[in-house]
Amino acid sequence: MSKRTGKDFLELTKYHNLEMSDQYSGMEPPPIVETRDDNKRGIKLPSPDLVKEKNTGFIGLTTDRSSLRKFAETPYSLEELSYLLWCTQGVKQVHGDLAILKTVPSAGARHAFETYMLVNRVEGLVPGVYKYASLTHSLVLFETDKDFVEKIVQACHGQAFVGKSAVTFFWIAYPYRMTWRYEERGYRYLFIDVGHVCQNLYLATEAIGAGACAVAAFDDNSLDNLFKLETDKAFVIYLAATGKR
Ligand SMILES: Cc1cc2nc3c(=O)[nH]c(=O)nc-3n(C[C@H](O)[C@H](O)[C@H](O)COP(=O)(O)O)c2cc1C
Repeated sequence: MSKRTGKDFLELTKYHNLEMSDQYSGMEPPPIVETRDDNKRGIKLPSPDLVKEKNTGFIGLTTDRSSLRKFAETPYSLEELSYLLWCTQGVKQVHGDLAILKTVPSAGARHAFETYMLVNRVEGLVPGVYKYASLTHSLVLFETDKDFVEKIVQACHGQAFVGKSAVTFFWIAYPYRMTWRYEERGYRYLFIDVGHVCQNLYLATEAIGAGACAVAAFDDNSLDNLFKLETDKAFVIYLAATGKR
């Protein structure tokens, strides 16, 4: 098989009119959020406004931002976790099945991500893996297996800081939410969109005296299996370890 080039990728995802798309053909849109854990009882998050931000202004935040891979033992408060989730995926408005407005932009307001968190140090939370239920700004417990941390580190090719964070955020992409409207072009939008999410996390952590490190070097199959994803429907697209400086 000949090696694929950047041109092949560009060709596959190039812009064309959307008359071939499932939306155009009248297919029902997919659910705006993933619902597999909806039957579990949620933990309501406090208001994100309760957090005191650093006083450096936006220029200070962008200048001071740098990737942090060594974290203090200090835990986050629940308010701080609420703040980080709000800044990265907080829902401001829902327009039926067709559009959501969040604190980050998204192509066509399709917002194709769910956020999961490896929680190691947050006051009031049992360590484990949680899902962010964005529509209700609450958490749902997903996994408490103590070996999960080590499995995640292994899936990230041994990058130990991913397991030593206060919280590591995982963004899981549900491509059909995007390709329903944009077909293959939607894959480009997924990768662009997730950059906005992670950049907000970088700046939001900076604003509360913490820091983040984006991680994209990981074994896809291992992480997708750990999160019990149906791999024809969802995949872990990106993650970021965070904690206090
Ligand atoms: C898409 C992307 C993937 C990255 N993946 C990793 C990673 O797997 N491991 C890591 O330690 N850092 C990773 N980083 C962080 C970069 O190494 C870091 O941003 C870069 O060295 C510049 O440093 P700065 O963020 O402090 O400015 C990633 C950054 C981006 C944007």
